[in-house]
Amino acid sequence: MGVAINRSQINQANKEEIDLITSQFNALTAENDMKWMYLHPKQDEFNFEQADKLVELAAENDMFVVGHTLVWHSQLAPWVFKTAEGDTIDDAELTNRLKNHISTIVGKYKGKIEGWDVVNEALAEDGSYRKSAFFKIGGEGFIENAFRFAHEADPEAELYYNDYNLINADKRDGAIRIVKNLKSKGIKIDGVGVQAHWSLNEPSIEEIETAIEMYAATGVKVMFTELDITVLPSPWEKSTADISTRFENSPTMNPYPESLPDSVQTQLANRYADIFELFNKHSDKISRVTFWGLHDGLSWKNNFPIRGRTDYTLLFDRNMKPKKAYLAVIQTVED
Ligand code: G3I
Repeated sequence: MGVAINRSQINQANKEEIDLITSQFNALTAENDMKWMYLHPKQDEFNFEQADKLVELAAENDMFVVGHTLVWHSQLAPWVFKTAEGDTIDDAELTNRLKNHISTIVGKYKGKIEGWDVVNEALAEDGSYRKSAFFKIGGEGFIENAFRFAHEADPEAELYYNDYNLINADKRDGAIRIVKNLKSKGIKIDGVGVQAHWSLNEPSIEEIETAIEMYAATGVKVMFTELDITVLPSPWEKSTADISTRFENSPTMNPYPESLPDSVQTQLANRYADIFELFNKHSDKISRVTFWGLHDGLSWKNNFPIRGRTDYTLLFDRNMKPKKAYLAVIQTVED
């Protein structure tokens, strides 16, 4: 069971917060601090200060560390695709830069970071490749290279493909294509990371179950890497009936600015219980579940898709007290 944490939590070293992290979870992901823009801001400059602190905290508490993430089109550094003259680099240079980036970082944390989100979000919603600069310059070869370089730098580390909406059939099939392609070329991939930024209604338990079975059938581990459940309206949600009820008194899209009504607390707890019952049923296929944040006050969902909302996505409230959802999850494990 993992949690994503950020630099302010580590740097403030609030005892209550650190105790909660280390007592409730046994895996850590950096919510931001291991992304390209932070670790490798300039071509000849790496900055490991914050990442080192997270790795240290994990080592002191015997926690598994997930490296998030080596190759992603977002939170990148501006130099990555440009030559000194300002032209766009070619495929050979992209390969050089990926090799340097990945070998340096994975090599530095060899034996300490035990699993890497090697490539993040390389798929479009229809399951084709996302037309990122990585893809435009390197084709699908950038994914193969990234996994190869990561494996060379730490042969023991687990290597994952990580993405959102991986329960949706088209994107799920795209991820399965990536796994099969890598395996057919003899390139190591150990797991698919399903991010799991979900809502009270979607995706359905049946859809999640189908995806777990299909990923596991390709011979990789399945992990839920960024779990949170929004209770607020989402522009992308298909089933709108329930949303309009929750929306009734809230033209600001902030229906519960002060606290979450008990009825919605219960809905959230039931949703988490359903999800964890399914996870328990497939515990032979699922190697990790990581929550995307420690408590509601820290959830990125407070700022997405609209800045400044008050969301209630996680197991602990803003005072770090366990919610009904926490008790529901614990109950599924005890059952
Ligand atoms: O570092 C700056 C800081 O200097 C500045 O004062 C502050 C003002 O807004 O912004 C800070 O940067 C923020 C950064 O997080 C670090 O805190 C960015 O604005 C903010 O957009 C960024 O959001 C992160 C987001 O990735 C960026 O895409 C979220 O915290 C993080 O939860 C989110 O995580 C991603 C996963 O990595 C991949 N999967 C989706 C997931 C949710 O988007």
